[in-house]
Amino acid sequence: MGDRKKVTLPVIYEKMTSGVPLTMVTCYDYPMAYLQEEAGIDIILVGDSLGMTILGFDSTLPVTMDDMLRHAQAVRRGSPNAWLVGDMPYMSYQVSDEDAVRNAGRFMAEAACDAVKLEGGAEMASRVRAIANAGIPVMGHLGLTPQSAASLGGFRLQGKSAEQALKIVRDAEALIATGVAAILLELVPDQVTGLITGMAKVPIISLGSGPNAHGQLLIFHDMFGLYPKFTPKMAKKYGDAGKVILDGLRQYVAEIKAKVFPEPERYFRMKDEEYEKLKRLVEG
Ligand code: KIV
Repeated sequence: MGDRKKVTLPVIYEKMTSGVPLTMVTCYDYPMAYLQEEAGIDIILVGDSLGMTILGFDSTLPVTMDDMLRHAQAVRRGSPNAWLVGDMPYMSYQVSDEDAVRNAGRFMAEAACDAVKLEGGAEMASRVRAIANAGIPVMGHLGLTPQSAASLGGFRLQGKSAEQALKIVRDAEALIATGVAAILLELVPDQVTGLITGMAKVPIISLGSGPNAHGQLLIFHDMFGLYPKFTPKMAKKYGDAGKVILDGLRQYVAEIKAKVFPEPERYFRMKDEEYEKLKRLVEG
């Protein structure tokens, strides 16, 4: 790994105030974290999207704290320097401030995260305050919040009407007032992002919410063709790792069937005299 400096909250705020766009990607495992570290990604989100991208569930709801911690630890080993955000899974913070602080603390103590993320607006203000008061930076998450997909009517654009957009703006204000360190806006109209970015004193990150934010986030598996079920419109494919892997697997199957693999240089033989001795020993 290179001589990259640790990305801290002051580094992120410095980039925000000097207009340097922030880069953010989701990550769930050691080898991909290693590559993200090499690429100089500022912020890595260990998202509970791992329930879908890694574990194959149809939603993020079955993901547990133990799942999250295991993956966050692996990501931290691969990327010692990115600002690492642990995504608080379903029901790890919704019930009480105490649960929220305890579970946020686990991300910091057990996975060396730099911050946690939780979904929701004004209704989560007391959770955000409690976690922030415990000294843990919190990233808010507004717009399409997958843990509430059932009540939002599915995975769809949020804040299309002025009234719906006003609620998102008010939620952002409430989060900022309670000490949130940054806010992620998922799938909201570009103008709403611009409005919030214009008034916010904290970094605003866009996921499918246009360019008028301090930074951009994409889901790793969408970027590289690794999620077979669907690719959302907001996702840009930067490579087709899925195709590369599938082609490789098909070639492997074909080579085994054709008895081409393994080639002589990929295995070992003992000396003939040792083998003769072995046979005698086996026969007794
Ligand atoms: O879990 C995740 O990856 C997320 C993104 C969708 C923002 O929360």
